[in-house]
Amino acid sequence: MSTPTTFDPHAYKADLRREWREAAPGWQRWLEVLEADGAMPQLGRWLLAAVQPQPGDRILDVGTGYGEPGLSAARALAPGGRVTLQDLSGEMLALARDRVARADLGDVEVDIVEGDADELTLAAGGLDAVISRSVLMYLADPAASLTRLHAGLRPGGRLAASTWSGPEDVTMAAPVPIIRRLLDLPPPPAGRPGLFALADPQRLHEVVTAAGFTEVELGTATAVFEFASPTEATRFLRDCAPPVTALVEHEPPEVRERVWQRVTDEAWEPYVVDDGRVRLPNLAHCITAITPR
Ligand SMILES: C[S@@+](CC[C@H](N)C(=O)[O-])C[C@H]1O[C@@H](n2cnc3c(N)ncnc32)[C@H](O)[C@@H]1O
Repeated sequence: MSTPTTFDPHAYKADLRREWREAAPGWQRWLEVLEADGAMPQLGRWLLAAVQPQPGDRILDVGTGYGEPGLSAARALAPGGRVTLQDLSGEMLALARDRVARADLGDVEVDIVEGDADELTLAAGGLDAVISRSVLMYLADPAASLTRLHAGLRPGGRLAASTWSGPEDVTMAAPVPIIRRLLDLPPPPAGRPGLFALADPQRLHEVVTAAGFTEVELGTATAVFEFASPTEATRFLRDCAPPVTALVEHEPPEVRERVWQRVTDEAWEPYVVDDGRVRLPNLAHCITAITPR
């Protein structure tokens, strides 16, 4: 991704759309690792435990990607419920559509909506819950978006969302300092959207509170990704992590390959377990809150 000195939300959004379009085949390829019981579902379970989806509920999943945690929530909504799976990327949503087609959801209605969560317009008070896993930190203006989501919830409606913690707790990002060092890249400007933009739970609390939510509660959950080898871990990152691959995308192919080889050689070493497998724990901050009754 380009890092101009002033933040251009339109250029940022165009980059984001392209990056997630390009990542969609990778997410399909690595679905088993992402959806392993100890991986992303750990975060999803925290969010659904906070929301407690009920039959008949109307739930919006913001930035659903391959359909989670919205599709898991949908399993609890029959009879009469409705889930909206929303994402910026039509290619990511194609994965969600495919999974919905194979799910047995009874009479639950599923809307699949392509669009920018920074520009959502929602009917006032029409939702029982909003859920969002690993997305809010990519929004250009999370405070404004949360205010609109708040308006879309009924009184007493619930928000539950997760964002990644800082680089020290998110081991899949271990290659970032190595890549920055090798390519002599400056640190990202403060305040920009990105992987760690809402890594501070206090800041997450502030944006949710500023949007008008009450009874704000924070927690954590850890997603563990496991790979057969360091080479596989690097392959996963290249396929699935646009915020990381964007750091090298403007380099010539031979430089890129050299960087990825160094990542394989260095980044995963602390996370290699006895049998040569790589085990990457990644801490997320989870937040839940309600709209005043
Ligand atoms: C890390 S993936 C998470 C996908 C899914 N929620 C999950 O937990 O597996 C981030 C997703 O957020 C989406 N996204 C990023 N910015 C967005 C925006 N402004 N509006 C809607 N979706 C966005 C991306 O297209 C991508 O599918």
